[in-house]
Amino acid sequence: MSPTDRIRSPELLAKVMSAEAAAALIPVGANVGMSGFTGAGYPKAVPQALADRLAALHAAGDTAARIGLWTGASTAPELDGALAKADGIEMRLPYQSDPTCRQLINAGKMHYTDLHLSHVAQFAWFGFLGKLDVAVVEVVAILPDGRLVPSTSVGNNKTWLDQADKIIIEVNEQQSLGLEGMHDIYYGTEIPPHRKPIPMLHTSDRIGEPYLRCDPRKVVAVVRTCQADRNSVFAAPDEVSDQIAGHIMEFLQHEVKAGRLPPELLPLQSGVGNVANAVLSGLNQGPFENLTAFTEVLQDGMLEMLRSGKLSFASATALSLSPAATAEFNANIDFYRQRIVLRPQEISNHPELVRRLGVIAMNAMIEADLYGNVNSTHIMGSSIMNGIGGSGDFARNGYLSFFVTPSVAKGGAISCIVPMVSHVDHTEHDVQVIVTEQGLADLRGLAPTQRAKLIVERCAHPSFRPQLQDYLDRAARGAPGLHTPHLLTEALSWHTRFLETGHM
Ligand code: COA
Repeated sequence: MSPTDRIRSPELLAKVMSAEAAAALIPVGANVGMSGFTGAGYPKAVPQALADRLAALHAAGDTAARIGLWTGASTAPELDGALAKADGIEMRLPYQSDPTCRQLINAGKMHYTDLHLSHVAQFAWFGFLGKLDVAVVEVVAILPDGRLVPSTSVGNNKTWLDQADKIIIEVNEQQSLGLEGMHDIYYGTEIPPHRKPIPMLHTSDRIGEPYLRCDPRKVVAVVRTCQADRNSVFAAPDEVSDQIAGHIMEFLQHEVKAGRLPPELLPLQSGVGNVANAVLSGLNQGPFENLTAFTEVLQDGMLEMLRSGKLSFASATALSLSPAATAEFNANIDFYRQRIVLRPQEISNHPELVRRLGVIAMNAMIEADLYGNVNSTHIMGSSIMNGIGGSGDFARNGYLSFFVTPSVAKGGAISCIVPMVSHVDHTEHDVQVIVTEQGLADLRGLAPTQRAKLIVERCAHPSFRPQLQDYLDRAARGAPGLHTPHLLTEALSWHTRFLETGHM
């Protein structure tokens, strides 16, 4: 392919260089805003070249040579993995799921600011995060006037391009040119006190432009790449995730019958992972028609639903597909372009829109407690797993908010229903329905002790149910207050017992 097929601006064509030369333009200590969301649309070459450069500086004695790394969300081994392995990240935000990053963060060797994904762009605009020095953004093509055709994720790219002093563009020839026209970049987000309502009433509304604006004078380098996204394969739904999906399906049907949901439901948000994918398979085989999605990430399950016609439209900020689904998506991209819009994450996750559209939020969690508080991020109170991601954006503002988990972890050694969560991401006020393979607890309108009774009966694993009931019974006799009875000396003893004995 000739470079001019994808790089149609002569001014920017003149700035094509190697990844190594581009990485050399990133100052040590800079805050770098990179594209990338759930393993899609991240730069593939410059991060590795930067990691090599930082590693060489460390070897030469400059052991403090690092950058601040900001993205949309999680990325891939070529970005987070490469920079973490080179010990090249001083501060990571707003989300990660990389094993090396996780290990460094939990060893106290990398700082991590875990943010609600809808907050990131506005925090950058407000100046809360410091100065953004460099943007490194993957695109599909550059138009003659310098505007950019976004790639498989939009994330925070609009904000990075606006805020950074210097821009490095990676043009990935592996990404389909058919993506052009799938994006909707909204440029109307002012900062207070000048904010206006976001003019969106339906998931399919287009309110912006198909291209990212970019000041060509700020572009210091253009790098050509040709490499696929991370594209991981999903495990086939197992019995546990099928049971969880089954409980949710039954509940949704019940809500329609009761007149609390329309027959086509309300726009769906589904977190990432295998349980989320199983729920989507359930919906694909279920009785609901004409569904819509207002979500963060489109996984294989949603593509299947678009193909079957169960889902009529999906709004998201990124694609996160298996290799097989990517091939199918690219082969039928004209079909999908009519049914998918990719937006900046400040819009895909916007509380105003989630509330207005009445999104049904479904997210996975690590543990929940008897009163409905949810921990999505930490293991045994101290170690980060991934981050809050968009779960809070959707859970707090959704029409309905589900949190799902298997009832036990680590082969039954850990109960995912505990007396008190060891870390709180979603408080009891934002959690309406808890689902495990054991059953579903509808917490709406219930007082704390009523919620606890239901969670133990419906969601706890039978091997932990008596212990939880015993805790509740004794708390009801011994707690200083009976609104949310707790035995404070025991509330976290399940976690300390696990740390001491390997079993809760
Ligand atoms: N205590 C300790 N460990 C636990 C646990 C618990 N209560 N529950 C799960 N785990 C462990 C599992 O054993 C597994 O460990 P492993 O990686 O060593 O095998 C790991 O946590 C992941 O659990 P798994 O059951 O495989 O769940 P998952 O892949 O569906 O991930 C979350 C669950 C909560 C970690 C994940 O959904 C997440 O990061 N959520 C937060 C962000 C979010 O909601 N994003 C979507 C918003 S749009």
